[in-house]
Amino acid sequence: MMGRTFLCLLLFFLASITTSDALGGRGPATRQGDALNKLYLDAFKLKREAAAASASSYATILFSDLSSKTYPQQGLKESDKIIKLPGQPRGVDFDQYGGYVTVDKEAGRALFYYLAEAASTDPSSRPLVLWLNGGPGCSSLGYGAMEELGPFRVMSDGKTLFRNPYAWNTVANVLFLESPAGVGFSYSNTTSDYDTRGDNTTAMDAYVFLANWMERFPEYKGRDFYIAGESYGGHYVPQLAHTIIQHNNSIINLKGIMIGNGVINEETDEKGMVDYFWTHALISDETIDAIHKYCNFSPNASSEPKQCFHSYRKFLRLSHRYKNIKKASMKRVKVGRPFTTILGGAEFHVRRVVQGYDVAEKI
Ligand SMILES: *[C@@H]1O[C@H](CO)[C@@H](O)[C@H](O)[C@H]1NC(C)=O
Ligand SMILES: *[C@@H]1O[C@H](CO)[C@@H](O)[C@H](O)[C@H]1NC(C)=O
Ligand SMILES: *[C@@H]1O[C@H](CO)[C@@H](O)[C@H](O)[C@H]1NC(C)=O
Ligand SMILES: *[C@@H]1O[C@H](CO)[C@@H](O)[C@H](O)[C@H]1NC(C)=O
Repeated sequence: MMGRTFLCLLLFFLASITTSDALGGRGPATRQGDALNKLYLDAFKLKREAAAASASSYATILFSDLSSKTYPQQGLKESDKIIKLPGQPRGVDFDQYGGYVTVDKEAGRALFYYLAEAASTDPSSRPLVLWLNGGPGCSSLGYGAMEELGPFRVMSDGKTLFRNPYAWNTVANVLFLESPAGVGFSYSNTTSDYDTRGDNTTAMDAYVFLANWMERFPEYKGRDFYIAGESYGGHYVPQLAHTIIQHNNSIINLKGIMIGNGVINEETDEKGMVDYFWTHALISDETIDAIHKYCNFSPNASSEPKQCFHSYRKFLRLSHRYKNIKKASMKRVKVGRPFTTILGGAEFHVRRVVQGYDVAEKI
């Protein structure tokens, strides 16, 4: 289980490390500096092309008529109420709901959610937080709710639950969404949906989900609303926020977004990675200063000055030995402070502080 969680959280990060590994110097005997330089620049160029392509391909799908995608919700809240999860401990002081919300009747597409309302307080005085795991393909129920920030964790018997002292529903109503269709319990009856979907349809479905869900739970209309997620949620979270804002939907009172360990794009992620190494005392002040001064991580930069290469190489040497240091980095993470950045307002200025194992499991 640990292995899969790990993969789910860090798919992107590992991809970056693989590239760095390749830069560590296999191949024919040339002067090491030249060989490294070539590999480094080739990899950089490829990444930049990919980054430029992904930056240009996202566009929100706009509905002029959302009502064609909203369906009657009467009575569904009551039938979604969870009386008791199997093996749940005594003394649970909050309400739970779970079920499906149809987002496309024609295709037969429905998204699964799990709501843990705020504990030991009046839930109506607390905001609503939507949680999205990444991947793509990570279950927000299996990972987010049951292994990260949900109200319960699973005992080693696999049958009983215990309370998670770091659960976010101590301060908020937390809505876990399995997204997109095909992930976790969410599905489509139109098989081709699984092949033809992308970030734009993921955001669209999540938006339609919210519009319908708010009809099912009208007490959350206009409530302070936050979107949070991790890893590939670096795409899901701001893209859903963007979709909500573009639709001028006054029912969804979006206050802010949060991303932990997010995949944003190569440029910000690359910068975040070197900063992470520096904040964890793995590279020197001189190295990080030189990287900041000489390296231009923008997808548009066609070449880097020599000074960039010299300093960046020190970072690469460390990434090459990454397998030995990653456990140390994970242990440094403070439990209960999993997030790197909080962003608010209508303009989402995505500023990464740290990339790494900031959502860590106890190991
Ligand atoms: C979503 O984006 C992809 C890639 O740019 C595009 O091919 C597709 O047509 C878009 N889907 C919709 C429904 O706009
Ligand atoms: C998908 O198909 C099943 C079986 O026909 C049906 O029960 C279910 O309601 C369909 N799902 C949606 C979202 O329409
Ligand atoms: C939202 O409001 C803006 C500005 O008034 C308008 O240009 C845009 O068409 C609106 N979007 C939708 C989906 O109604
Ligand atoms: C990179 O180039 C594209 C296309 O020419 C341009 O739209 C974009 O603003 C540039 N980005 C930066 C960071 O200079």
